[in-house]
Order: sequence, then structure tokens, then C-alpha cells
Amino acid sequence: MSTNAALPLASASSTPAGQPWRIGLIGFGCVGQGLYTILEQQPASGFTVARIAVKTAGKVRPLPAGRFELDAGALLADDSLDVLVEVIDDPEAAFQLVAEALRRGRRVVTANKAMLACHLPELVRLQREGRGTLLYEAAVCGSIPVIRTLDAYFGGEPLRQLTGILNGSSNYVLTRMGEAGSEYSPALTEAQSQGFAETDPALDMAAFDPRSKAVLLAAHAYGTFLRPEQVLNLGIEGITAVDIAFAASQGQKIKVVAGLQRLPDGRVTALVTPQLVGPESPLYTVDHEFNGVVIEADFAGEQFLRGRGAGGHPTGSAVLADLAALRQGFAYQYPKTAEAPAYASDLEVEIYLRTDEDRLIDLLDFSEISEEADEDEYVVGYVALENLIRHRDTLRTYGAFVVRTGRLRPISVATLLEEVSA
Ligand code: HSE
Repeated sequence: MSTNAALPLASASSTPAGQPWRIGLIGFGCVGQGLYTILEQQPASGFTVARIAVKTAGKVRPLPAGRFELDAGALLADDSLDVLVEVIDDPEAAFQLVAEALRRGRRVVTANKAMLACHLPELVRLQREGRGTLLYEAAVCGSIPVIRTLDAYFGGEPLRQLTGILNGSSNYVLTRMGEAGSEYSPALTEAQSQGFAETDPALDMAAFDPRSKAVLLAAHAYGTFLRPEQVLNLGIEGITAVDIAFAASQGQKIKVVAGLQRLPDGRVTALVTPQLVGPESPLYTVDHEFNGVVIEADFAGEQFLRGRGAGGHPTGSAVLADLAALRQGFAYQYPKTAEAPAYASDLEVEIYLRTDEDRLIDLLDFSEISEEADEDEYVVGYVALENLIRHRDTLRTYGAFVVRTGRLRPISVATLLEEVSA
């Protein structure tokens, strides 16, 4: 079957009309419990959690131990379950489960963004072969219906640009640092205690989590399947009050922004970094654990979606929306994959870099420097995006902090000449 063939709609259930659909829930962490309590409070939702599989026996859980079983495979094999909801923490184990469920023609809902970002082409292929249906609204921006909006509503319209705050935890930390003059570490502890953060907080703070989400957005917005490591991700682990003050001195805030953009030559680029955001942007007022996405479409113009991006109930709400969509026969169509634009990284981005390691400035090889402050140890200027991608681990290791101004340009003639003569 062609990889661009339309996807079949979700198959009909054997459950009689009017009966609730039986859910096999795999994982009972923040999202699994969020979904469970939502369904408890909505007895007429049309869904019931029939079986729950977890990894660890004997953990203290809010339900009797008899509700849990340890073999997720048994749920995959249980044809009396109408749908499987996969919400475990481990991306590789999740991929094995979801891929096997699709091979068996099952309906699956997942929230596992890291797993999806690494394996999306394979999972789409399985669906195109007519094997099952997979929805994952909960994987991007919690409660915001952005994937379905891009896939179904904007499936026929070219998009100029998407910019978004896709990670609630880092946004929470930045908000607390800005409003209360809070330090980074206590703000992170607060985000963790509220259940927004990943088990490994570096996924949030070093922007690996929003990078996965940007990969998923690129597939639906442009039809382009990116490998996560192609996309620059820089986070806020090195941020200090100096950086917040620098942004404030310009009348701006620092936000971790994912930018996906169609270039004049038709290619697309994607990157996730801290960025200066001014009051003219709808993202300026997206604070705490909220997420926001600005969609700029060729004909519709600008649209802005804002909502809670993390937490058990908002994310559980997105899972519930996917369950309802499956019941109506909905499946993603990935409508832009047939004419997917190529990915571009031969660009220069304007950044603010604060570091006490002068050699990082040499390493990044700025093509132009517009501002330099010795006392606060920062420079502002243009660097090649590929240099940032190549040296992102070094920047992280040395605690450097990078913020994009938002300006992007084709790689400069001077840099090209240097490359040719090298
Ligand atoms: N850790 C994620 C966040 C959870 O903070 O946004 C939602 O994907």
C-alpha cells in the first residue's frame, strides 16, 4: 500500500450501541488517574475502565489492589476491550505495546510524546496498512485540541508558521521566576510537586519534551516527518535572574517557544528554544502551566489556542476527547504528507548568549555581533542554526544560556564563502 494512501476510518465496535465502550488502561500514573477520575465523575460518558495494567505490584494506589494486573499483553489480546489507552512512562516499552496493538488492528489512544516523536513514521505505516487506529491529542499541549485542528480543520490549508509554548513545567518555572523573583530550583520543585513535570525533569527543562511535541506538530501542520535530533532544543537549565532582567529591560519575557516556519523557498524549519516574547504576541500572557499555540494560515490568518498544557485532568480530558472521536469513527489523515516540504537548517538565528566561557562564543562562530556586555557576560548576534545544533550539548554542559530574539535569516554570504574556502 502507498505510504500516502488515505487512512481508513476507525472500525466499528462489537459493543452494542448504547453500551459503554470498555477501556483497557495501560499505566496508572498522573494521566491514567486523571482519565479514571474524569470517567468516574462522568458516568454517562459512554466509557468504562474495564481492565488496568501497571508495571509495579504493591505500589500504594487510590484503588484496591485487585483492580490492577501486571501483564499489559493480556489487555492487547482481550477482544472484549473496545479501546486501549497507553499512558506509561517508558517510551520504548510504550512503542512495543502500541505497535503490537496496531498490528492486531486495535484502537489505541496514547499520550506518549517521546515515543511518538521517535516512531511516528512506523506507526503511520501500520495504520495505513489498515491495522488499527491511533490518536494522541493528549501528547501535545495537554487539553488544547491542536493535533485534530491541524489534521482535520487545517488539513487543506497551507500554514505559514506555528509558534507555541508546548511545555507547562518550564513555563511554570519561567513565570514564577518573573513574577516572584523566585530562584530556578524552588520554582522547579513547585512544578514537580504539582504533577506537571516529567519523571526526569531534564526532559522539561532542557526542552526535550517540547521538541517531541514540535516533531508531532510538524507531521500534522506540514506533513514533514522529522527525527527529534534534527530539531534544535535549548532549555532553561542555565537561566538566572540576569537573563530575566535582560528580557525585562527590553519590555519582554523569556518563554520556551517552539517555532515551525515555512521559508520563502517552500522548505520548513523547526526549533525549540527560549525566546524573547513581547506584549504584541498572544504567547506573552501564557503563564504558569498553560500552553499556547499561534497558527498562521495562508487564508484564515492568525488563530490562537490557549489552555492547560499539563496535569492529570487537562491531559485526561484530551484522552477522553480522543476516545469520543474514535467512537465517531475519526482517524488522523496526515493530509499533507504527499507533498511534504523538505526540512531546512541552513539558516542563521539571532541569539542572546550568556556565558563566562569565552570559548563558547568562538565555538559558535557568530557571523555578526550587535551587542556585547562584559560585565553581564552576554553577547547578542547571529549564529548558524547548524552550529547551535552541533554544540547544544556543550552549551548545556557549560551552563550557557541562550535566548532567540525571534529573528531568522538565510545563512550569510560571508559564512557561505568561509565554508567554500575551508
Ligand atoms: N511535562 C509535561 C509538561 C507534561 O510540563 O508540559 C505535559 O506533556
